[in-house]
Amino acid sequence: MSALKDVEHLTESEARDEHARLAREIAKHDKAYYQNDAPKISDAAYDALRQRLEGIEARFPTLVDLFSPSQRVGAAPSGKFGEIQHAVPMLSLGNAFNDEDVADFIGRIRRFLGLGDTEAVAITAEPKIDGLSASLRYENGRLIHGATRGDGASGEDVTRNLLTLDEIPEVLPEGDWPEVLEVRGEVYMSHADFDALNARQREISKPEYKNPRNAAAGSLRQIDPAMTAQRPLRFFAYAWGEVSEPLSDSQMGAVEKFAEWGFVTNPLMQRCEGVENLLEHYRAIEAQRASLGYDIDGVVYKVDRLDWQERLGFVARAPRWAIAHKFPAEQATTRLEGIDIQVGRTGALTPVARLKPVTVGGVVVSNATLHNEDEIARKDVRVGDMVVIQRAGDVIPQIVRVVDPERPGRPEPFAFPTECPVCNSRAVREHDEKTGKLDAVRRCTGGLICDAQVVERLKHFVSRKAFDIEGLGTKQIEAFHAEGLVKEPADIFTLRTRNLAGEIDPPIQTREGWGETSAANLFNAIDERRAIALARFLNALGIRHVGENTAALLARTYTSWNSFCAASAHLTDEAVRAEMMGIDGIGNAAVEALEQYFSEPHNQDLMERLVAQLDIQDAEAISSDSPVAGKTVVFTGTLERMTRDEAKAKAQSLGAKVAGSVSKKTDYLVAGPGAGSKAKKAADLGVETLTEDEWFSLIGEG
Ligand code: IVH
Repeated sequence: MSALKDVEHLTESEARDEHARLAREIAKHDKAYYQNDAPKISDAAYDALRQRLEGIEARFPTLVDLFSPSQRVGAAPSGKFGEIQHAVPMLSLGNAFNDEDVADFIGRIRRFLGLGDTEAVAITAEPKIDGLSASLRYENGRLIHGATRGDGASGEDVTRNLLTLDEIPEVLPEGDWPEVLEVRGEVYMSHADFDALNARQREISKPEYKNPRNAAAGSLRQIDPAMTAQRPLRFFAYAWGEVSEPLSDSQMGAVEKFAEWGFVTNPLMQRCEGVENLLEHYRAIEAQRASLGYDIDGVVYKVDRLDWQERLGFVARAPRWAIAHKFPAEQATTRLEGIDIQVGRTGALTPVARLKPVTVGGVVVSNATLHNEDEIARKDVRVGDMVVIQRAGDVIPQIVRVVDPERPGRPEPFAFPTECPVCNSRAVREHDEKTGKLDAVRRCTGGLICDAQVVERLKHFVSRKAFDIEGLGTKQIEAFHAEGLVKEPADIFTLRTRNLAGEIDPPIQTREGWGETSAANLFNAIDERRAIALARFLNALGIRHVGENTAALLARTYTSWNSFCAASAHLTDEAVRAEMMGIDGIGNAAVEALEQYFSEPHNQDLMERLVAQLDIQDAEAISSDSPVAGKTVVFTGTLERMTRDEAKAKAQSLGAKVAGSVSKKTDYLVAGPGAGSKAKKAADLGVETLTEDEWFSLIGEG
């Protein structure tokens, strides 16, 4: 190393250059040491680097920034980011795949808002950037923290990494920004930067990134911000979370504010009117897709008026006022080498196409879904065929068609098994009781005697959105099940005591891949999860049609395991059933599945053993101090101030349950002109009947 100038004699610009170099150098050694376990310099040499950096920072304090090595918490990168709860959830978008879907979207909005035929609906259209979304929280014009989307409710704290982006200001310029401002948008990598990054990766014999989106995600989630700083990431601002004052009265106006406050906004965003105009802009963006220099995978439409966005609100996890119009999927041709049958947790036999690996849209694909046997027959897909496959975004690739179905000497059609390949039980296609139609899916009838179903249910039980037990993943569940240690969920919670009592032979800590510490960690991780939120618990049960969203709705409605159980065990009771059916977002399929599940004695036993091990925590009732919170409301007749859908959504947002029919559980019947039999039934049952105006004054909007 050449002789270094004394820190006292450095000019400010020399200091800045050297500081940056030292930060990079230290970052490199930290990574070698902490992540790769391969230090490249002695401890003394490393300490000298840090001392020099700290000396420079002492003299030039302005160089201390959030990603300086001196600011790292502790010396060792933790390997994990902190968690940030989003003040306003980060939502996803529904999809439109063709022109008709777009027309339907506009139609739904008109109907929901009850707009007349002549009333114009302005919609903004802008590219859907293929990156990852981030939320930046500014307080008094200064960045407080930044987070990834995560599961929408909370994300990872990547503040210091986000600050390395040139396009994310740490301090907002003078302006009329509100005190609290959460700017949301997409972090992405340009094509040019992606190519340069992969060229560098090749030079240093590191694996290349699959596509710019993965590169952006990988770069943003670097443990060491100095690493992120070396990756040129960009940011388009397009949405917001919590704001202490409204930004504007329109989507376009709000985004224009972002631009004023120093954010980059997409130049292709435009305000449109009418379906034709939207589609025109969609095509214009599509035509420019290849020359933009960054990946986009569709066009996002948003209702421009913010008061309308507010009225439209959300369904499940997507706004009613926005939709993503996706570009058609990319295609490629390859050979179908085989068809495997997988058995899922509900017994569904799913055919999976094994393909000769081929690159589609920058990603190597070696299998594709075939959905079910009808699909195989309809497409007449046979092993050995050349097939066209497509993939869109992150969805599993699909087989579109066989290349030359007429060619002579084709192999035999695929014979779909009628027995479960795992347990040999009969695999059948059920008839839908109502429609009489044959179910597209063939299911193994083995239930809990089918190892595949049992294992898949257990895997689901411990998965991230269910019990999420650290150290107990797919691999461990497969091994524990194969060895007979875990046959049902309750067994997970008795592992520690059985192991201690010597009932597990050989004991877990002596097994291959395990030791005293890892076994103790596992038992502790299991204990930590005995207290579980009701919604997670319901999702974990893996009942058909009761996934994460449905579980959350049920938990919010019934709030405790006991009252949920009481309802589910009495779904033959008309009133109980009507109440469940009245929950917005819960359909007949879920109710039927619950009825079936709870009427099965072995499921009851299994739940009883499991619940005995747990502390299932009550869900918060929908937090609302509205007088209608927790009440059951039925709307009937013609409403004049709102459409029926809007009224229903409004009532639900205040914590009311909306039912379709009047029963003794109904608290209010809101009756507009033309109310018929429901009004009579309400009168018979002594249910309070309100006019539309009375309803509005009850909810404080009189
Ligand atoms: S708006 C409430 N606008 O798409 C609406 N999202 O599928 C919030 N995305 O998680 C999203 N470009 O990561 C919006 N111009 C754009 C977008 C965009 C990309 C992503 C975003 C979001 C996902 C939803």
